[in-house]
Amino acid sequence: MSASKKYKRVTVKSLIEMKSLGEKISMLTAYDYTMAKIVDGAGVDVILVGDSASNVMAGHETTLPITLDQMIYHASSVVRAIDRALVVVDLPFGTYQSDSKEALRSAIRIMKESGGHAVKLEGGKEIKDSIKKILNAGIPVMGHLGLTPQSIYKFGTYTVRAKEEQEALQLIEDAKLLERLGCFALVLEKIPASLAKKVAESIRIPVIGIGAGGDVDGQVLVLHDMIGMTHEFHPRFLRRYMSLYEEMTTAISEYVSDVKTSEFPNKNEQY
Ligand code: KIV
Repeated sequence: MSASKKYKRVTVKSLIEMKSLGEKISMLTAYDYTMAKIVDGAGVDVILVGDSASNVMAGHETTLPITLDQMIYHASSVVRAIDRALVVVDLPFGTYQSDSKEALRSAIRIMKESGGHAVKLEGGKEIKDSIKKILNAGIPVMGHLGLTPQSIYKFGTYTVRAKEEQEALQLIEDAKLLERLGCFALVLEKIPASLAKKVAESIRIPVIGIGAGGDVDGQVLVLHDMIGMTHEFHPRFLRRYMSLYEEMTTAISEYVSDVKTSEFPNKNEQY
């Protein structure tokens, strides 16, 4: 039986069960009600209200500027749309790194004000106190290692991470630590496929990859990239399932032309 039939409502427990049964996990981003309704209806297991909303929705160059209030606005719109998917919400930059009490306050605001089901934080041992505190309050936490876009100014580029042995070993350590702390899943972004496979094999919690190859427990993409709305972004790992940028441009140009030539509206389109 496919996951979409078996799990009427996806929970953090279902995801761990999917890994143990060898059932791959599908995850996509959404930031608004209309898109989330389509994504949930199509059977996606996990909807990520990613801080990539900063780029995709607001046009910022990085994920750093998005605020907690803005994430709560996006997440509550998504939560109103869903019947089945687990909704995970990114804690934005600056809301969990300074101390664990602030991290807990931020996570509680997300859970209380948006109705999301879990939070995601970027980082390993350097944020372990924040993760512990949030987990102790009963809030499920998804980890995120490898390319962590909130640290873009430390890395300098969005290129593949953990190609060198030392960084790879640290990543494995961090993944094991996140499992020990009690995270329910882990996102690995843009790392060598062989390393991602090794991580997925060495921990029991599901590993969901983006640019991390196929030997992990699930995949995540940014919705607007996979439906081809963000046509200027084409990393190797991205598979485009539609070319919506071109299709929308054609449709909108036709509309403009129809308005200009009085082709729209016609007699059947008026009262
Ligand atoms: O914010 C986001 O969309 C993400 C995914 C790229 C995993 O964190």
